[in-house]
Amino acid sequence: MVHTAAQQPTLAPDTVFDWLDEAADLRAAAGLTRTLRSRPADDPVLDLASNDYLGLVHHPAVTRAAADAALRWGGGATGSRLVTGTTALHTELEDELAAFCGFEAALVFASGYAANLAALTALTDPDTLIVSDAYNHASLIDGCRLSRSDVHRAPHADPAAVRRILAERTHRRALVVSDSVFSVDGNAAPLAELSAAAQDHGAALLIDDAHGLGVLGPGGAGAPAAFGLAGRPDTVATVTLSKSLGSQGGAVLGPRRVIRHLVETARTFIFDTGLAPAAVGAALGALRLLRAEPERAERAREVARTLADRLTAAGLHASTPDAAVVSVRAPGPDAAVRWAADCRTAGLAVGCFRPPSVPDGISRLRLTARGDLTDTQIADAVRIIAATGASHADRP
Ligand SMILES: Cc1ncc(COP(=O)(O)O)c(C=O)c1O
Repeated sequence: MVHTAAQQPTLAPDTVFDWLDEAADLRAAAGLTRTLRSRPADDPVLDLASNDYLGLVHHPAVTRAAADAALRWGGGATGSRLVTGTTALHTELEDELAAFCGFEAALVFASGYAANLAALTALTDPDTLIVSDAYNHASLIDGCRLSRSDVHRAPHADPAAVRRILAERTHRRALVVSDSVFSVDGNAAPLAELSAAAQDHGAALLIDDAHGLGVLGPGGAGAPAAFGLAGRPDTVATVTLSKSLGSQGGAVLGPRRVIRHLVETARTFIFDTGLAPAAVGAALGALRLLRAEPERAERAREVARTLADRLTAAGLHASTPDAAVVSVRAPGPDAAVRWAADCRTAGLAVGCFRPPSVPDGISRLRLTARGDLTDTQIADAVRIIAATGASHADRP
């Protein structure tokens, strides 16, 4: 609604935010209230809600590396790395991450979110068309919004549609953007076909490998390596250090000239404090562990397949996992919340995804198939989800 100056409502200071309560009431009526719950350090529940795909967040090699880094380099990075300097620790992580994933170079950011904003804003201009999968993560969507480029939201996992959109463009440049593994159902994007479409139309490809790193590809080298796209001159990947690497932070991986461009132009690099040394240390510790124990990646995929098969056999509507995420459909947001709460009461933590986190509007439980789960824990999880689902599940 547009008001003229004369019509501006006069509001007492204590009523200025009344509209927030009205918005909260609307969310509550739609079953979309979100609340914070405190988590004890020694939470006894079986955790299938986190993104700790390889079960490394508490691994002694990871926590020790975090502590050592903090003791040596301090509690924080002290400023933007362009201002206060870049530590040898950051450079080590960037070099090792790039080599592990098969790219020329890498640049570390304070989060995966910041890495996605950086890639999307720095690699585009007003004469670029961004072709973005309809189910892409919110950080990619926000990056598209910030880019000031034209954005075409392509149908989900539809390379033929991407081809048509690219063929019809009038823009000088184009960037195709997709999650490698979609965070809700755990399905993989058709990356080979998307890359072929991009190549045929002179476009670049940006892959968000948040859910692929550590799980897909040889020894967990990620989706670009799995699809033979790592190191291509027209391909850039983003990753987060906060999922399979059990740390915090993000990175962009790509050709050296892309990384140089990001250092000089990406606002979430220039105007953001560098990643804290402890997080860099933890990520390096996890990366080295993964290099030494590459079977961890395959185990996470195996746990996902087992979980999905058993949940399906129990009559539930489970997704077919391509990586380490399995989801189970609920009939609506309220049912999903109650189902997740009943699981927790029974000793199992599961994710509960509802709109707007689910692009297709279908609420779900989301399970992380942690690679370190034992067979007994997998059996317990399936038993609890099936038993509590008797009153809340959506049946296929
Ligand atoms: C697909 C995807 N991209 C990016 C991010 C953002 O990563 P971070 O949590 O490190 O900011 C996430 C994490 O939630 C994600 O699932």
